[in-house]
Amino acid sequence: MTVLIQGGTVVNADRSFRADVLCQDGIIAAVGEGLDAPKGAIIIDAGGQYVMPGGIDPHTHMQLPFMGTVASEDFETGTAAGLAGGTTMIIDFVIPNPQQNIMEAYKQWREWAEKSVADYSFHVAITWWDESVHADMETLVKKHGVNSFKHFMAYKHAIMCDDETLINSFTRARELGAIVTVHAENGDLVFQLQKKVFEKGVSGPEGHPLSRPPEVEGEAANRAIRIAEVLKVPLYVVHNSCRQSLEAITRARNEGQRVFGEVLAAHLLIDDSVYRNEDFEFAAAYVMSPPFRSKENQDVLWRGLQSGNLQTTASDHCCFCADQKAAGKDDFRLIPNGTAGIENRLEVLWHHGVSTGRLTMNEFVRVTSTNAAQIFNIYPRKGTISEGADADIVVWDPAASKTISTKTDHQNVDFNIFEGMTVKGCASHTISQGKVVYANGELDVERGAGRYIDRPVFAPYYDALNIQAQQAEPVAVKR
Ligand code: URP
Ligand code: ZN
Ligand code: ZN
Repeated sequence: MTVLIQGGTVVNADRSFRADVLCQDGIIAAVGEGLDAPKGAIIIDAGGQYVMPGGIDPHTHMQLPFMGTVASEDFETGTAAGLAGGTTMIIDFVIPNPQQNIMEAYKQWREWAEKSVADYSFHVAITWWDESVHADMETLVKKHGVNSFKHFMAYKHAIMCDDETLINSFTRARELGAIVTVHAENGDLVFQLQKKVFEKGVSGPEGHPLSRPPEVEGEAANRAIRIAEVLKVPLYVVHNSCRQSLEAITRARNEGQRVFGEVLAAHLLIDDSVYRNEDFEFAAAYVMSPPFRSKENQDVLWRGLQSGNLQTTASDHCCFCADQKAAGKDDFRLIPNGTAGIENRLEVLWHHGVSTGRLTMNEFVRVTSTNAAQIFNIYPRKGTISEGADADIVVWDPAASKTISTKTDHQNVDFNIFEGMTVKGCASHTISQGKVVYANGELDVERGAGRYIDRPVFAPYYDALNIQAQQAEPVAVKR
């Protein structure tokens, strides 16, 4: 398919300019003014619109088996919902059960993802440790294009990884040239607090944030950061929800440490009052970790994004329907943790970020696409409108508006956490691998069209780090 996007303004992370964009054979073939339409090309009139790199959502969980159930959104429906909102690539997570062979889990997730309609890649979680894990990390890096390993510091008695595993895995990742990522919450503390809150008679969803205060997140973020500092490995902290974790990241960055921070669109816009709603179904729908926070944190997080101390935005798309959330009707600890958002990430960030003046359009592109591509080493294949890049593009109509609702969205879940929010600025067209897959409200996707995207390791960066490591070699005192 040949597609010519005519008359729009290209918005990249570094600059905006008037240009047509020609997509041929899945690649951006040309970017320039007054491009001729090849015979048979589909023409998209982008007059008055912005032509931006498709969103990259670096944090999703399609069909995740979790807390006794399986997330309702699978790779096909989830990537389709992403395309409807302008997101053209996801990085999901392989999460082995403790003691499960890592390669077996990886192969399982690869099989599940084959039905994806847009491109995808995987972070691999390290949930336990032995020699096989040590060896499999190398196989994943060298043979399967995995350059990031995830560590859950929460979810005790499930997928939580203790400090010893964290240290083993961080050390190994550094040797291999991979980046490490963490879900930062002190899982032991959460476990104790959950027990305490429940025993005091709080069994409803309001117990969820009470048992996971911001300090629990700040402590874990700081611990992971300091471990990464000692081991000299770059670190990416997922879903920062509060001042405490952002301060830990900012402090480390100011000290010259290579630490990155992600924020969810939902944490920027939703506060913890949702948990005090008297309707269990409503309150449970917002149960996710870390929980939504008091309003002051939202301002702090926006400032983190504006200052560049937080570099990426994600959805943490992890869907559970009301009947699944009902597992925790009598005990908030059993409510499956997770909320949706892949389809709405770009539009809520545009409306509340760009339209309010908090972010420029270029910063919007940076935090929705380019930075994720650079941090996870798929740039400039992804994350830019440039000749030779993959033709993953969103045509953005700043004048279009809509009211978000589960009745009209494409997400396979019965609740939308942004329900009723009116946003101005939406995707009019999404192009994935050079094909128009979403136009004016209609999806036209093909099961299995999504490709697995290899992400190579960060060799040049590590060469620089090695110098520091040598300087830090221990020296024995001669006696
Ligand atoms: O509550 C959440 N975020 N569920 C998905 C798993 C995770 O912690 O990211
Ligand atoms: Zn998490
Ligand atoms: Zn997650």
